[in-house]
Amino acid sequence: MNTSNPGRLDPNGRVIMISGANRGIGAAIAARLRLDGYRLSLGARSPETMAQQSSDDCLCQPFDALDAESPRAWADATMEKFGRIDGLINNAGAAAQFGFEDEDEAKLDHMLEVNLKAPYRLIRAALPHLQASGSGRIVNVTSLAGIRYKRGSAGYAISKFAAMGLNSAARSLLWDDGIRVTAVAPGPVNTDMMPQMGGMTREDVTQPETIADVVALVLAMPNNASVAAVPINAVFEPLP
Ligand SMILES: NC(=O)c1ccc[n+]([C@@H]2O[C@H](COP(=O)([O-])OP(=O)(O)OC[C@H]3O[C@@H](n4cnc5c(N)ncnc54)[C@H](OP(=O)(O)O)[C@@H]3O)[C@@H](O)[C@H]2O)c1
Repeated sequence: MNTSNPGRLDPNGRVIMISGANRGIGAAIAARLRLDGYRLSLGARSPETMAQQSSDDCLCQPFDALDAESPRAWADATMEKFGRIDGLINNAGAAAQFGFEDEDEAKLDHMLEVNLKAPYRLIRAALPHLQASGSGRIVNVTSLAGIRYKRGSAGYAISKFAAMGLNSAARSLLWDDGIRVTAVAPGPVNTDMMPQMGGMTREDVTQPETIADVVALVLAMPNNASVAAVPINAVFEPLP
């Protein structure tokens, strides 16, 4: 409980894991949560390149979504340093063009591995610790491309729709453990991954710091107030 605001969880002492924290949305989330006072466990393929470095309240750890052992090793290292895990931000993601004309399924397999199976494995690795927290939080950074198909890579959309399925299953099955699960689903965001969108400039699209604000709010919401998904539009469109 946050004594100055009983409607919010107190970040003080809480430990949050963030995948893909070295750049883009993940780096913005890390910077924001650091300011909010969380202790952070940051996972990246090249942890030495991160803006944040290991300290008393920050652990920078290798995490490779293509290595099935990596989630467990990262969760174990987090427990060794902090002795608790209160939140997991499944942010690392991969995007590539893949359509029905492609016979080679390597790109589809890669996106399913990074966008679906690695988040699934990270949830499994963190699960006993999130249960022990009593107010565990999982935020899956999915995409509007996982809510409706509009344009672009069919393979990316397939992987993000699947990630929304993971979100729904985890939200339902883990609710009674006090774990709240939310998909944060942006449209185009100003990062290296930003898709070309009909002449939209980097200033026109959503900024990673805004996504970080949304994640910070979702993380701090108490057990009796939870949102299943936060779709974020840079331009108006009707959503289902
Ligand atoms: N930008 C957009 O327009 C947009 C829109 C909707 C949703 N999203 C989602 O937002 C999330 C963050 O993307 P972003 O925009 O910040 O893109 P980004 O700047 O391209 O960053 C992608 C992040 O994912 C990491 N990653 C990729 N493959 C990995 C692997 N095998 N193992 C570990 N980490 C891996 C990258 O690490 P490396 O630096 O090692 O490559 C990087 O940290 C993704 O899930 C993405 O699908 C983005």
